[in-house]
Amino acid sequence: MFSPQPFLPPRPKLMFFGDPHGDFKPIIAAVERYRPEAIVLLGDVQARQPLHVELQSVRDLTQIWFIHGNHDTDTDADYDNLWGSELADRNLHGRVVEIAGYRVAGLGGVFRGKIWNPGEPEANVPFRSRADMLRHVTRGGTVEGPWRGGITRKHHSSIFLDEYEAMIGLEADVLVSHEAPAAAPAMRHNGFAAISELATALGAKLVVHGHHHRAIDYVHEGLMPAGAPFRAFGVDMGSHLAWPLTERMGPR
Ligand SMILES: [Fe+2]
Repeated sequence: MFSPQPFLPPRPKLMFFGDPHGDFKPIIAAVERYRPEAIVLLGDVQARQPLHVELQSVRDLTQIWFIHGNHDTDTDADYDNLWGSELADRNLHGRVVEIAGYRVAGLGGVFRGKIWNPGEPEANVPFRSRADMLRHVTRGGTVEGPWRGGITRKHHSSIFLDEYEAMIGLEADVLVSHEAPAAAPAMRHNGFAAISELATALGAKLVVHGHHHRAIDYVHEGLMPAGAPFRAFGVDMGSHLAWPLTERMGPR
């Protein structure tokens, strides 16, 4: 005899979560409900306990990945609860990892003029690398630091040119970044051509970013043409984007 199956929502491959800023309840609830194969936190994690403790209840339900944001270096606790967590090796920054069948590249952090303003000519870059900055600091330079024997804590969330350039030769399906890509020139939007150029160099078909605390569908909002080489989305704080897009769910 036919017995109807209870409705089960399709299981997303990937779910991207906007800046948690210490609140993991929406992430845990979404993972328990949708059971995605993997999740990616888009920076500004600011865990109040080590990240693996915050997400302990869902560690066995999904793969957990992240990039860092500018606020993840605000305090020693912000830094330690991320980079000192058992999940520290899940930071996608500066590399490509195959996750749930997608090659996912990560670029955490933000552009800071004291390190690298991508709108400036390359000859004006103050520090190409963390090593350059540390040499400057240890020689008594005027830039702040050192911190724990290295560069100052704040600049652990700055984007350095050498790390960006090292990604140019890689290939990926997806780029996750804390900073936003550029929009059409006439649009008011705090995005960066450097993010768009990296996505194009990687061959990525999807860019997902945090930082702006706003759900943005770039094509839908006229920020990018439908024929752009990649789709782009911003994800709001406390919200998520499920991928593939046909399975978009949640409070967007
Ligand atoms: Fe941010």
